[in-house]
Amino acid sequence: MDKMEHSHRRDRLMAAIGPRSVAIIAGANELRRNGDTHFPFRQESDFFYLTGFTEPNAVLVLTPCGNKAETTLFLNPKDQAAEQWTGRRLGVKAAPERMGIDQAFDVANMDEELPTLLKGRQSLHALFGFDSTFDQRIFSWINKLKTQRQTHPGEFINLAQTLHELRVIKSPVEQQQMQRAAEITAKAHIRAMKSCRPGLGEWSLEGELLAEFMSHGARFSAYPSIVASGENACIMHYIDNDATLEDGDLVLIDAGCELDHYASDVTRTFPVNGTFTSEQRDLYQLCLNAQKAAIEAASPKARFGDPHETARRILTQGLIDLEIIDCESVDVAIEKGSEKRFLVHRCSHWLGLDVHDVGMFEDNGKSRVLEPGMVLTVEPGIYIPTNEQMKDVDSRWQGIGVRIEDDVLITESGNRVLSQDAPKEPSDIESLMANGL
Ligand code: GLY
Ligand code: MN
Ligand code: MN
Repeated sequence: MDKMEHSHRRDRLMAAIGPRSVAIIAGANELRRNGDTHFPFRQESDFFYLTGFTEPNAVLVLTPCGNKAETTLFLNPKDQAAEQWTGRRLGVKAAPERMGIDQAFDVANMDEELPTLLKGRQSLHALFGFDSTFDQRIFSWINKLKTQRQTHPGEFINLAQTLHELRVIKSPVEQQQMQRAAEITAKAHIRAMKSCRPGLGEWSLEGELLAEFMSHGARFSAYPSIVASGENACIMHYIDNDATLEDGDLVLIDAGCELDHYASDVTRTFPVNGTFTSEQRDLYQLCLNAQKAAIEAASPKARFGDPHETARRILTQGLIDLEIIDCESVDVAIEKGSEKRFLVHRCSHWLGLDVHDVGMFEDNGKSRVLEPGMVLTVEPGIYIPTNEQMKDVDSRWQGIGVRIEDDVLITESGNRVLSQDAPKEPSDIESLMANGL
């Protein structure tokens, strides 16, 4: 991504917090997995959004309007010995030019340099509440200025709302990136459908997904893949992926790659043996009808909650028609909350650098209005586990879980389904699984 993109984002944030303010945004640190092994490093999304910088242990300081440089980065210094073990570092000298920032310091000197950047500022904006150790460090810099009788910020403001509102609207570059991530993910779902057969393990399909992601340069999943066959599909965050795929079951795959930090999030549900049973088809078709109508409801000027409400009504009516819900009308069923035990989750969330991306769902107590550049998922589901709560439901429906999820970009004229290449019509899935076409 062009460094100007990040510079532009910092300018917008500085304009939003106003002069006489200072913002401090910390990047991620490395996280130990076990023994002396670490998880692969993943930059904090807020920090990445403003810098594009992918090294651990860095801190960004923004000081709009003033005689001090406006953008300061603290980062690990060059260190030949350390770099030979843990990888290359950009270093303090090269950082300003390469990243389009004003000045850079060795992160080891942060406690000395930081108070100077806070001096004379009225308000301090930071992502308070994420890392209490870092929060304390911020207040230690304030205390230092206080002790020296220097003017220092007296207002402490959570930066999350301001910064996260910027992240809600995706720029053209972000939209392209997310389109590409969704395309790769669609290919992975197709690969999983083609390779599926009874007797394989759920883990084998997870392997196919990862192989496809990686073959397109997306080394990581945006979240742990859910490969949930049979009854497992009724567990929302099933990630054990350790069961054998049984003939006659459905398998629900909720998986998406992360491409240069941008997430995709796609769910497809299909028959392990390539052919839907009559009950599976009825529930699947109902979910698909609801999902298509919900996507239709996602357009500028509609509200964030409209796809959810659209899907909820169609699903509830469908469950009444299938005699799974015993009620005279959809309105009465919804008023009584009869659908809740089958529908479980909301139909949408924002998507971006995080899979459950930041940003408010409401504005002034009302579901917020959708605008071009927003990206949300549309993912209705129906879940009928075999348990006490479902014992009044005919056993032929029990043990079935269906979800269909796409990534939807709001455009000027309506929307674009970024993940549309992943088949979801039952006939398309069956023909792909039978003939590989
Ligand atoms: N993959 C998580 C979700 O669909 O929200
Ligand atoms: Mn989702
Ligand atoms: Mn998902």
